[in-house]
Amino acid sequence: MKALVLSGGQGTRLRPLTFTTAKQLIPVGNKPILGYVLDRIADGGIKELGVVIAKETGEDVKRYIKDGSAWDFDNTTYILQEPLGLAHAVKTAEEFLGNDSFIMYLGDNLLGEGVTELLKKFEEESLDAMILLKEVEDPRAFGVAVLDGKGNVVKLIEKPEEPPSDLALVGVYVFSSRVHEAIESIKPSWRGELEITDAIQEMINLGFKVKAEVLNSWWLDTGKKDDILSANAVVLDEFIKAEIHGGFDGKSKITGRVKIGEGTEIINSIIRGPCAIGENCIIENSFIGPYTSVGNGTRISDSAIEYCVILDDVVVENMDRLEESLIGRNARLTRNQGHRAIKLHVGDYTEVEL
Ligand code: G1P
Repeated sequence: MKALVLSGGQGTRLRPLTFTTAKQLIPVGNKPILGYVLDRIADGGIKELGVVIAKETGEDVKRYIKDGSAWDFDNTTYILQEPLGLAHAVKTAEEFLGNDSFIMYLGDNLLGEGVTELLKKFEEESLDAMILLKEVEDPRAFGVAVLDGKGNVVKLIEKPEEPPSDLALVGVYVFSSRVHEAIESIKPSWRGELEITDAIQEMINLGFKVKAEVLNSWWLDTGKKDDILSANAVVLDEFIKAEIHGGFDGKSKITGRVKIGEGTEIINSIIRGPCAIGENCIIENSFIGPYTSVGNGTRISDSAIEYCVILDDVVVENMDRLEESLIGRNARLTRNQGHRAIKLHVGDYTEVEL
């Protein structure tokens, strides 16, 4: 069993952050989303990793995963792909995959459970495809599945305008090498992509053994700003333990599960968990509320912040209340109290809500 992690794509809905980084590398709880994906795969006992990358962000992804030894992978292969669909990614990775079965995991998907059980079922029942489904409120943004009374998949449609069910395809799939046959016979969709959904439909048409499981735990597809904030909240809730390395003065109060990195100083501030603050930050005369992650080297003073993801080397000053915000690296947010005018210097595709 091999693993194929998809870490390409342009992440257009997460611009401007994705102008300088891959969307899979955006951190939640101060760790790249891709890191949680690789943890799951490594926990599933997989030793051979293939990573599909894009030309724009591939180098960043390589710099993060390196040779994969941090996750105990025996070898890591990088595969460069044009963004022409998930089935196209599998096709591009054919040489790496060979005749082996593999788990395909989209690098921007976070799941509340591991893959061990899924892999076990796939092997025990000698399946050709195993897919995960989850009930969602608006299935139009996903691949959608229709099941029969016995739980067999009858039909799959990619991003239907009128969804026939509320079961979305989660971005984690297990395939036997027979998926390659199915991919050979599908055509690009209306969006010009070779869809994995169509390939699985083709596997059903060809009579291959395809099974679906409905996921019991949470699932987050981190395509947009609000998804990143929700993922951050869930990750802080589930994974953060109280761990204080930095220092704080007698006037500061830290409550709940708060992680504070080396070299960070908390001065006259209240920090309320769950919350993660990176290394070498200065937090002064401020309130950092629940569900906030602050990257390394960030300086926050005279501000109140809650439910935010703030990346590295940011400066926040005099912000009475900053909520539900995603702030990219080296950004500077200040409030000039003497003036009522708002002065902005924002990057391309930035969103400002005042
Ligand atoms: C892809 C798949 C879709 C699936 C989704 C899960 O969508 O095509 O079937 O539901 O991932 O994240 P995309 O991210 O390409 O829009």
